[in-house]
Amino acid sequence: MTKTVPKELLPVLNKPLIDYIIEELIEAEVNQIGIVTSSKKPLIKEYLTSLTQPHTLLSKYPSVDLQFIYQETPNGLGNAILEAKEFVDNSPFIVCLPDDLVFHHISAVKQLQNKYKSLQHSLVGVVPVPTDKTSNYGIVKPHNRLEEVSFTAEYFVEKPIPENAPSNLAVIGRYLFTSEVMDLLDKYSGLVPDDDLLTKAKNELAQESSVSALRISGTRIDAGSALGITQAAIHELSRQPEEWGQINSFLSLSLIHISEPTRRYAISYAVICLKK
Ligand code: G1P
Repeated sequence: MTKTVPKELLPVLNKPLIDYIIEELIEAEVNQIGIVTSSKKPLIKEYLTSLTQPHTLLSKYPSVDLQFIYQETPNGLGNAILEAKEFVDNSPFIVCLPDDLVFHHISAVKQLQNKYKSLQHSLVGVVPVPTDKTSNYGIVKPHNRLEEVSFTAEYFVEKPIPENAPSNLAVIGRYLFTSEVMDLLDKYSGLVPDDDLLTKAKNELAQESSVSALRISGTRIDAGSALGITQAAIHELSRQPEEWGQINSFLSLSLIHISEPTRRYAISYAVICLKK
């Protein structure tokens, strides 16, 4: 399905994934939003800007400046961020990856912003992951004590096998970067493999103790998979008491049905009578 409909437009309950991210930014008063995308995904722009849909987010928030920045070759996250260099114009900026959803009364973006007020340097959001999953993420080696909520990063390793992972703290798709990162991405773009570019920049910041990791509080869901989209929808439903009651009774009925393995005579035939 995602060959036709971009995964950012897949619905999580009653709105697409991309809306959750944009709302998280708008609630955190981030009003200049650049979407780095490919021209092969025109539906995203169409959905977000369509004037024929008065319910679009942008019509709800007219002060938001939404711009589309095109990355024509899929050459990694570092280069995608670099495409937005002119857009962010030497200011500190947030990076969000829509594959990661975080549910918490203080959004992940706000948590980063709050920490930035005291630190004034780049921050990456991290969460603990099972040790056998480290090869899906960038993993941070903390400088000081691992238990702390935030700590300066000694270095980052991109997608290490469990044996080589310096911790179980994985970088998720929420970052707050200073413009220094753009300069480093610019400096190393084309000189290191595309997939290592952002890690190279983060590691150079780490050498100057200019990047910290912040443990993000909340329920973090990998919305890049069908399972994650379902989990996110269930999480959203659980916040709506009326619907949640209905889902609960539906689930308990289904479970009773499923757990009836001893039923002898399975019914495999049906007749459908079509009316004239
Ligand atoms: C990217 C980053 C990785 C990070 C992940 C978070 O990987 O390269 O460091 O942990 O996002 O979602 P990707 O998922 O794009 O392969």
